[in-house]
Amino acid sequence: MKGQGKQTQRLDKLLTHMGFGSRSDIKRQVKQRNVTVNGTVVKDSGMQVHPYRDRIEVDGETVSYKPFIYLMLHKPPGVISATEDVRERTVLDLLDEEERHFSPFPVGRLDKDTEGLLLLTNDGKLAHELLSPRRHVPKTYEATVAGDVGEEDAARFTEGVELDDGYVTMPAQLTLLSKKQAEEGTLSYISLVIHEGKFHQVKRMFEAVGKKVLYLKRTEMGPLRLDPELPIGAYRELNEEELALLSRGILEE
Ligand code: URA
Repeated sequence: MKGQGKQTQRLDKLLTHMGFGSRSDIKRQVKQRNVTVNGTVVKDSGMQVHPYRDRIEVDGETVSYKPFIYLMLHKPPGVISATEDVRERTVLDLLDEEERHFSPFPVGRLDKDTEGLLLLTNDGKLAHELLSPRRHVPKTYEATVAGDVGEEDAARFTEGVELDDGYVTMPAQLTLLSKKQAEEGTLSYISLVIHEGKFHQVKRMFEAVGKKVLYLKRTEMGPLRLDPELPIGAYRELNEEELALLSRGILEE
């Protein structure tokens, strides 16, 4: 996952990737004698460097190269899981330039009104593996459902329910967390683990048993769990432990 075997590359390309500005910004820095490689002042911003073996410094600051970025976002409602859109705010609009220049993209989609765990990365291989239908990566959701969710629904979800397009879902684990009597009727608070990711899947599964999802939040995806300390709309890089879990669980099977 870390790309340690990467061969040499142009210094200006590497520094641009790491957020030190455009190629012409780097050229200017080099002209001003602000960039060193292994202690020697750089003369040519297009020189070849090894991202891990060479010690690169800009303005005295050591550049520690990383090819990939992995961000856990606590997605708020009201933004779409896309990289750009002409009308809507996207999850990328929530990121600072420091992360955006890595060109991350969301791994899978949450609906505009769905909250919770969304992984953003520029690691195409990892994203592909997490989304691969043959892997059946589990995803856990918590939802508020209008209606009286019961044993019968759980049994139907275990068997698989037929969605509006005729697709029969894989076995999913439905747990009733609590219930409340509201003015508009019974509200059920549930958690659901699904092992696939069809369009609007959770909402459509409940529709198949005659109930409506009012609120939906993803709390887990594969080995990743939404950090309870992460406020809604905030994000952070995955920590070492989470990265290890991901690479162990997904990439090194
Ligand atoms: N299922 C849904 O219906 N919506 C989501 O955002 C995710 C899963």
